Parts: sequence; C-alpha cells; structure tokens
Amino acid sequence: MIPRSTSSSPEEVNNLLQTMTEQYGYDFTGYAPASLNRRLQRHMEQFRIGSLAQLQDTISSDDQAFADLLRSLSVPVTEMFRDPPFFQYLREQVIPWLATFPFIRIWHAGCATGEEAWSMAVLLHQAGLLDRCQIYATDYNEEALETARRGIYKTALLKTWQSNYKDSAGEGDLSPYFLERYGSLRMDRRLQKHITFANHNLVTDQSFGEMHLILCRNVLIYFSRSLQDRVLTLFRDSLAPGGQLCLGPRETLRFASVFDDFEAVNPDWKVYRLSKDRLL
Ligand SMILES: C[S@@+](CC[C@H](N)C(=O)[O-])C[C@H]1O[C@@H](n2cnc3c(N)ncnc32)[C@H](O)[C@@H]1O
Repeated sequence: MIPRSTSSSPEEVNNLLQTMTEQYGYDFTGYAPASLNRRLQRHMEQFRIGSLAQLQDTISSDDQAFADLLRSLSVPVTEMFRDPPFFQYLREQVIPWLATFPFIRIWHAGCATGEEAWSMAVLLHQAGLLDRCQIYATDYNEEALETARRGIYKTALLKTWQSNYKDSAGEGDLSPYFLERYGSLRMDRRLQKHITFANHNLVTDQSFGEMHLILCRNVLIYFSRSLQDRVLTLFRDSLAPGGQLCLGPRETLRFASVFDDFEAVNPDWKVYRLSKDRLL
C-alpha cells in the first residue's frame, strides 16, 4: 500500500525549492504553484515519501533522489507533428519565409524527447532547405534529451506519427524518414546532422545566438507570469529582427512586457513576429 502524502504548507514547499536551487542550481520558484504541487504530491506517492520535509532531507544527501525528483517535475510529453494544423501552417507559411535566408537558425526550447525538432527537420528536408539549416533543440531534462539524441522511438507510436503527418497535409507518408527495426523506429541520420540537442535551462541560462525562428510550445503553461516574462524576454533577445516565435495553443504573449515588440501573425496558432525596427 502506497502511503498518501499529507498536504503540504507553502513554507515546506519553499524550503524544498530553496534546497533545490542552492544545492543543485535548479530554480523552480517561478513555476505555477498548482501544477508544481500536483507533481510533488505524485512524486512523494510514487517514492513512498511521507512529507516534503522528508523529501527535502532525502535530496540533500542523495544526488540520485534529486535526479528522480527532477524527472518527476518535467513533463516530457510530445509527439511527431503534434497539432497537425500547426505543422501545416509551418509547412505552407513559415517554411517559404525561412527559404529567403541564406542560412537558417531555429531553436526548439523545451523539446522534451525531440519529436518536434525531428518533425521540423522533415519539413526542411522536403523543402530542400535542410542543408542550410541548423536546429537547436534544448531541455533541462537530460534523460529526455538522451532519447532525443538517440532518435529511437517505440514502434507503437507509428500510427499516431503517420496520422499526424497526414493531417498536417504531408505528402506520402513518413516512412522515408525512419528505419523500422527490432521493434523500434530509428530516425534517419541525414536529419540528425542538422540538429543539436543540448541541455539548457530556461530559468537560469542565457541566449546562445540569433535565431530566425523559436518554438517554445507547451512549456510556458508550467511557469508563473513573472517567469514567463523572463523567458519571453530571453526569446525576444534571441531573435533576429523580423524573426518569428511560436508558442503553444494555451500560451500567449498578451500579458508579457515584450508584447509591444511583436505582432501576431497567426493568433490561432500563437505565432508572433518580432518587429523589424525595435529600438535596441
Ligand atoms: C510538455 S513538454 C513540451 C514538448 C514540446 N515542446 C511539445 O510541445 O510537444 C514540456 C518540456 O518543457 C521542459 N521544461 C520545463 N521547464 C524547463 C526549463 N526551465 N528549461 C528547459 N526546459 C524546460 C520539460 O522538461 C519538458 O520536456
């Protein structure tokens, strides 16, 4: 029988978050409290930890226990061609715009296990742009990144992949882009050459260059308004003038201090363009 953990006070949560920041450099104080608390409760149930104080004690002396907690707080849920109409929009509107640049830089922030970046590489390959493109795909979850780098996924996912791809108005099917072997799907190495998967924490790390396109989808929903503001400022400062930013369907720039620096290009799919004449 798994013990149900008792409800926890804001002080206990704060103490735990302080230990995580001070001892390990991972700052979760800007995460939205409701979902953070839910994840902490679930973690304590899974690992049979009776209280936040006990969890704090455990991670203070055990790096592996901290790694387990980190994994529980990340939600690395993603799919190839997730939200197919969004990928159709990318294919039809964004890719032709990217084609106007001699060299293209794209950043997927919060890429989880990598499927969004692999899907982008497929679109770029089909448009004949992959050779002049570099995709950066980042997350703080090292285990998810390892899956992303290996590019090996379960065959059970194939049906969803193919139907998402078809619903995004993709031609033919996805078969030319992976090898089906020993019960798994291995992404084509031609695509991999153009994707750099790297550890990057949106809370604490800085920008790493000027991008034409940034996608940060289904990540900001876990952040408080003030942390969203910090991250959106980081994206603004990481975009080339006229560069585009794509957020998730439940995310918006509307309340951010950088709102006036952007115009909405596609309000339904939360695609924004950085103004070309923003004063620096
Ligand atoms: C729900 S997934 C989104 C994956 C993908 N963007 C998509 O929409 O399919 C959210 C990801 O954000 C990552 N994440 C959360 N906080 C982060 C942070 N501070 N820095 C980098 N990645 C973060 C999580 O580890 C998780 O992999």
